[in-house]
Amino acid sequence: MKRPILIHPDPRLKKLCAAVPDMSDEMRALADDMLETMYDAPGVGLAAPQIGLLHRLIVLDCAKPDEGEDQRPLVMFNPQIVASSDELNVYEEGCLSIPDQYAEVTRPKIVDVEWMDRDGNAQRETFDGLWATCVQHEIDHLDGKLFIDYLKPLKRQMITRKMVKLKKERAREKA
Ligand code: NI
Repeated sequence: MKRPILIHPDPRLKKLCAAVPDMSDEMRALADDMLETMYDAPGVGLAAPQIGLLHRLIVLDCAKPDEGEDQRPLVMFNPQIVASSDELNVYEEGCLSIPDQYAEVTRPKIVDVEWMDRDGNAQRETFDGLWATCVQHEIDHLDGKLFIDYLKPLKRQMITRKMVKLKKERAREKA
């Protein structure tokens, strides 16, 4: 089932999310909903707080189907970055909670991530390039951090003002 995506600014996007203690059918169903919502948007990553649920759960898929790559839906419960490269990478990032706004963000180029998969098994993998950027962006969401928090205050305020306006317009359309 597709879920509505919260738009910044929203207090739920600024919260520290809680670890998922045990795997359950409820959590698996939530992960499926998040994947459906992400692919539909379309986007390459989604974190639980973006649909208003403060669990440490992210989904991502940075495969490029137009370049012949197969879909690779990843579901990560309690993801943690356990190592990062000194080498940095700059990507123009966006976010489903900040529609149509993009800005360059600098992050470590390569990261090792540990997480619990949908079967409750521990996983560890090294991510590079877009995958590394995306997993870091999504894990930030679990700590109440958005990509615009890396920008200069003026730029961040400009984007936030645009989002306030967008939310007002959307609320008016619904009324
Ligand atoms: Ni995001």
